[in-house]
Amino acid sequence: MKNSHEKVEKHVGWFFLVTVLAISIGGLVEITPLFFQKETTVPVDNLKPYTALQMEGRDIYIREGCSNCHSQMIRPFRAETERYGHYSVAGEHVWEHPFLWGSKRTGPDLARVGGRYSDDWHIAHLTDPRSVVPESNMPAYRWLNENVLDGELTGKKLETFNWLTRNRSHKDEQGNSIPLYTQAEIDGAKDAVKGKTEMEALVAYLQSLGHALK
Ligand code: HEC
Repeated sequence: MKNSHEKVEKHVGWFFLVTVLAISIGGLVEITPLFFQKETTVPVDNLKPYTALQMEGRDIYIREGCSNCHSQMIRPFRAETERYGHYSVAGEHVWEHPFLWGSKRTGPDLARVGGRYSDDWHIAHLTDPRSVVPESNMPAYRWLNENVLDGELTGKKLETFNWLTRNRSHKDEQGNSIPLYTQAEIDGAKDAVKGKTEMEALVAYLQSLGHALK
């Protein structure tokens, strides 16, 4: 027994094998239960699907890399909940593909930014952050005011979300899942966003964040 530890540490093959084993057990124990826990697969009651415009805004958020500086994940610590509100729960994110939790906070968390500022504040801030927060080092996104949406793909995006969330949508009384979007909403998506600026879409998305749980 005395030498077995040494044996593992001095033989790269053994060391590799035992390391992989240890990590796998740890990983399985942490991750496997999440697939079966209701809290991580069932949407919270008030969760609402993004409107067509919010969906476009979300894509702009992804395109512009906002999540490189902003998380959307409030941790269950007092310092966080006092600043941002209720900590994030899995049921708020079950429809997100991909989720936008982020891991870096150059700027504040945005998980509950919806309703915190007016639309006008957001437009001023995104157009020129220094105009409302003099010490800000956030980049300006002026082009969002000029780029106009054509809505060609919006319906497809809603359809894709229906598919992605087919096992995680709200359920009716018989337990059948209710798709996030009706066919009428999918058909009307183009007209709902066509002619709107990217700025309007992004602000609509930001204003939608975090209302499911207050
Ligand atoms: C280089 C890092 C960086 C990037 C990229 C960035 N931000 Fe920021 N953001 C900040 C910083 C720093 C602040 C805090 C100062 C301020 O309010 O401007 C901030 C503040 C904010 C706020 C105000 C939050 C609050 O609670 O006061 C919002 C909303 C916001 N950013 C949205 C965005 C969006 C949308 C994008 C992408 C289009 C984006 N940010 C990209 C750094 C960044």
